Amino acid sequence: MMTKIILDDVSFTYPDGTTANENLSLDIPSGQRVAIIGQNGAGKTTAVKLMNGLLKPTAGEVHVGEWNTKDKTTAQLSRKVGYVFQNPDDQIFHNEVIDEVRFGPRNMGFDDEKIEDITNWAIDLCGISDYREENPYNMPYSMRKFVTIASVIAMDCDVIILDEPTAGQDKIGLALLGKMLKELEKLGKTVITITHDMEFVTEHFERIVVMANRRIIADGKASDIFYQEDILQESMLKPPAVAQMGALLGLPKGLLHKSELVAYLKEQYVNGEKVQ
Ligand SMILES: Nc1ncnc2c1ncn2[C@@H]1O[C@H](COP(=O)(O)OP(=O)(O)OP(=O)(O)O)[C@@H](O)[C@H]1O
Ligand SMILES: [Mg+2]
Repeated sequence: MMTKIILDDVSFTYPDGTTANENLSLDIPSGQRVAIIGQNGAGKTTAVKLMNGLLKPTAGEVHVGEWNTKDKTTAQLSRKVGYVFQNPDDQIFHNEVIDEVRFGPRNMGFDDEKIEDITNWAIDLCGISDYREENPYNMPYSMRKFVTIASVIAMDCDVIILDEPTAGQDKIGLALLGKMLKELEKLGKTVITITHDMEFVTEHFERIVVMANRRIIADGKASDIFYQEDILQESMLKPPAVAQMGALLGLPKGLLHKSELVAYLKEQYVNGEKVQ
C-alpha cells in the first residue's frame, strides 16, 4: 500500500478561462497527513481534484503512485484516491445512508463479508450508526458530511482527501473527526485535508501546505508556518490562539499548543517570581 502523490509544476485553467492553480509542485509520501489551508478561492479544491483525476492538469503532470493521471480514467483513479466533496450534496445519490455507504465498497469488488464489515466500520467511525436507514437529505448538513466521509473511507483507498470536513461541525463533530484521523493513521492511509480550522490543523497534521492566489506559498510544519509573518500576511490566515499570543508577547517561536505555552510559562515563573 504505497501510493505517493506528486504534482510536478502543475497548472489548471477552467474551460471559462479562470486559472485556479499555477505551477504547483508537491510531493506527498505514502502515509502522510497533510492539511491544505488558504483563503476562499485560493485554489485548494481544484488542487485536490487534480490529485484524484476529477480534473486533469492543463500544464505539468500529476502522478498517483506509478500512474500519470492523464493516462487514467477518473474511475481508475478514484479506486486509489478517495475524495470527499466539499459540498455533500454533490456526492450523495442514494435515499438511504446504508446504501450510500455500501455503494463504494461494492463497486470496488470486495467480497460480501468485506463489504458488510467495512460498511459497518465506516458507519461506526463516522458516528452515524443510528441513521443507517435514514434518508441523507433529512439529516443536517454536518451529518450529511459524515455520510459522505463514511462512503469514501469504506472504499479502503490508499489516499483519502477530505474537502472541508470541519465546516459546520460542533465540538462533538470535531472530536469524531479527530478520532477518525487517528484510525486512518493507524491503517497507514495518506490523508489530505482542506480546512479553515487552524486549531484542528495544529492538533492533527504533521505537514501544512498554504495556498494563496492560485499558488502554494508555504509548505512545512505548523510550528514554523504559524510564526512566519510574511506568509500569514500573504495568505491572510489567522494562526491558532497560542501562536497569536506568543507573537504578541514576544515568546520563543514555535509554541502552538496550550500545554506548551503553560509549560513554558511555568518554567519562566515559579510562585509568581521570574526565574533568572
Ligand atoms: N467550475 C469552475 N469554473 C470556473 N472557475 C472555477 C470553477 N471552480 C472554481 N473556479 C474558480 O477557481 C478558483 C479557485 O477555486 P477553488 O474552488 O479551487 O478554491 P478553494 O480554495 O477551494 O476555495 P473555497 O475555500 O471557497 O472552497 C476560484 O477563482 C473559483 O471561482
Ligand atoms: Mg474549496
